[in-house]
Amino acid sequence: MSSSSRISGFHKLSIPERLQKVAENSPASLDTLKVFEEFGNLPAETADRMIENVIGSLSIPVGVATNMVIDGKDVLIPMATEESSVVAAVCNAARQCRDSGGFITSTTGSLMIAQIQLTNVADCANARLKILERIEEIRTICNDADPLLIKLGGGFYDVDVRMVKAKNETMLVTHIIVDTRDAMGANTVNTMAEKLAPVLAGWTGGKPYLRILSNLADRRLARARAVWTPEAIGGTDVRDGMMQAYYFAEADPYRAATHNKGIMNGVSAVVLATGNDTRAVESGAHAYAAHSGRYTSLTTWEVDADGNLCGSIEIPMPVGLVGGATKIHPVAKASLEILGVQTAEDLAKAIAAVGLAQNFAAMRALATDGIQKGHMGLHAKNIAVMAGAVGDEIDTIAKTLVQLGTVRVDVAEQELAKLRTS
Ligand code: MEV
Repeated sequence: MSSSSRISGFHKLSIPERLQKVAENSPASLDTLKVFEEFGNLPAETADRMIENVIGSLSIPVGVATNMVIDGKDVLIPMATEESSVVAAVCNAARQCRDSGGFITSTTGSLMIAQIQLTNVADCANARLKILERIEEIRTICNDADPLLIKLGGGFYDVDVRMVKAKNETMLVTHIIVDTRDAMGANTVNTMAEKLAPVLAGWTGGKPYLRILSNLADRRLARARAVWTPEAIGGTDVRDGMMQAYYFAEADPYRAATHNKGIMNGVSAVVLATGNDTRAVESGAHAYAAHSGRYTSLTTWEVDADGNLCGSIEIPMPVGLVGGATKIHPVAKASLEILGVQTAEDLAKAIAAVGLAQNFAAMRALATDGIQKGHMGLHAKNIAVMAGAVGDEIDTIAKTLVQLGTVRVDVAEQELAKLRTS
């Protein structure tokens, strides 16, 4: 029987039946696919309700970052990541600013934006005012779409109307700005936008197309700042090297992309551990990094009058404590409990602090020993395992690889052969 990707009714099958079909229609054998039988800490029934066509789940390590002090409170931070050094980096950065007060945070609140696109509006400037004049009607339409949110103290907040020059015309783009409280809020604002679109079309004579949230959540910013004394970080040379690293990122988009990737190593790990939408946060962060018209660093670094290194970050943080996987995935629930956050704003603030800590650690490593030294310990262990080392052999081979300064599978294999014959 030849294999095909056209598997009618796949979604209606049980998980074992789907695995059977995958084995029949892909190069993978049923034996290989046994790996999917172990669902770990996500029950199969839960996974099957979360997405379509489920065959299994993927476990990622969850580590806990220690040493963090946020707004005067000690907090443990759960981080889900496949990348070595990320958790250790936050622990180190946080330890080095504990004595100078840790991280101080704030937010702009939990305001999400949804956009409604109207085309074929002949008199855009006029139509814009027609919409703005009817803010109270807009408020009612939006709030009627989610009475529970109103009970929780959220709801419609404001309206903005922009004229966007597009390929062949000027489009009228209405932004509804909604306080979504402890929800990330995508469903809420999308529902409101869908309800409002035909009404706006009636008022303006325009043709509505897209009705969807904007991931450039610049009304939902989280901020964190911290101070590191030169003594805590290894001296003024280290500090000055870090400032050079920052100036580079600030000036050059090629560098800024990597600098911000490092920030997102920390941010996405907490977003993932808490069951939030990593892509929403990532797209918002990178779009915000370009909000001046030029892609640049998400963090700012300065030397204060006393010679201390001061870091700050301001980053869109559309995360919630309800909705999505946050209340469904057992690990997300446990992670939120570890963090002890009571509101989505508290979670957003903790994540911003982690982003800043991560950036500090990357810049410090890059400005001193380079990044490979820190990476190599864990990486060498992975390479040792890949070469076939087991038990105590893993540490022995990893140490040898680091000493040799060559962390490669072929070298690990040679060293393993030597070890076993010695
Ligand atoms: C690696 O995942 C992240 C870094 O490249 C970040 C940076 O360069 O700032 C180390």
